[in-house]
Amino acid sequence: MSLGRELKPNIYAVGAIDWDRRLFDELIPLPDGTSYNSYLIKGSEKTALIDTVDPTMTDVLVRNLRGLEVGGIDYVVANHAEQDHSGSLPKILDLYPGAKVVCTPKCKDLLMDLLLIPEDKFITVADGETLSLGNKTLEFIHAPWVHWPETMLTYLREDHVIFTCDFLGSHLATSGLFVTDEARVYEAAKRYYAEIMMPFRTTIGKNLERIKSLEIEIIAPSHGPAYDKPEFILNAYRDWTSDAVKNEVIIPYISMHGSTKKMVDYFTEALIDRGITVKQFNLSEPDIGKLAMALVDAATVVLGSPTVLVGPHPKVVYAACLANALRPKLKFASIIGSYGWGSRMVEQLTGMLPNLKLEILEPVVIKGVPKEADFGALDRLADEIMNKHKELG
Ligand code: FEO
Repeated sequence: MSLGRELKPNIYAVGAIDWDRRLFDELIPLPDGTSYNSYLIKGSEKTALIDTVDPTMTDVLVRNLRGLEVGGIDYVVANHAEQDHSGSLPKILDLYPGAKVVCTPKCKDLLMDLLLIPEDKFITVADGETLSLGNKTLEFIHAPWVHWPETMLTYLREDHVIFTCDFLGSHLATSGLFVTDEARVYEAAKRYYAEIMMPFRTTIGKNLERIKSLEIEIIAPSHGPAYDKPEFILNAYRDWTSDAVKNEVIIPYISMHGSTKKMVDYFTEALIDRGITVKQFNLSEPDIGKLAMALVDAATVVLGSPTVLVGPHPKVVYAACLANALRPKLKFASIIGSYGWGSRMVEQLTGMLPNLKLEILEPVVIKGVPKEADFGALDRLADEIMNKHKELG
């Protein structure tokens, strides 16, 4: 059996759905699988393939191409060199020896290093350059840092379809070619943005501006379903990349003997009582994707940790490093927790957040179990957060 579903006349989805994948880069959880989308475009004179698939699913791509009785491929456009899209290139070049790889100069260097593709197989394209397939024209838009330095987008002018590779995509295995359940795709796309795109928020915003003038009917990413209502995902991205933050506090925490847990629960209620949305994340068995999503638009993070060997708990260190790497648009941070006989956790944790341009609000780190004065200090911190959020408007 093969699948070659028509996106528009003479444009086919020939990629693979990976229902079983649960981890990406051996780091990122994929609760709903993913897909590696590849698109075949038949012009009146030339045929182009946009992106390939993860090497583990090369056979699916080959089967889908055979099912469409593709006589030849003239160009394989590599929008991005990462192996989940480029990994099947060597096999495709073996099967279609006349095909040339079309990509940015930086992508060429990476593909030669990563996949040992010979130099004479490449055609490099400049930003704004076009390539004719006869009655269809591909326009290449360099879009570096979504999320590697070599990335580009490919716009099919006559059909108003833009192929965006990782940009605007979602890790979601679904049989639908287009988005049918917007709420489900919103969640998957936000998780994807948080884990992959958020560190490049400013660049992503500029890329959104760059494609604003294009007439777009379909956005065809290389993960997840395509968008036949482009404004749905464009509006979501505009919101996530904007400077606006929500009246929300994220509390990643862990507790060893219950003291920090008592503080976290009291503090959570104090914030709710002040009209603030709170999201707690117990780090004993965290879904880091959910934590990353929560960080996309919250105003404040408060780390909750006991003291381990005078420093923070290692799982809180992990959460702090993750937040620092993902560079969310947080405005404020603080720390709550307890110690037995001594702690340097505040200075150590705050030192782990150099990438975040935020204000540290006075932490509440106490000795032993929380007492009346300690709950009072948590009320003071909740008041301060409420006032700071109000000042943001
Ligand atoms: Fe889907 Fe950056 O690869």
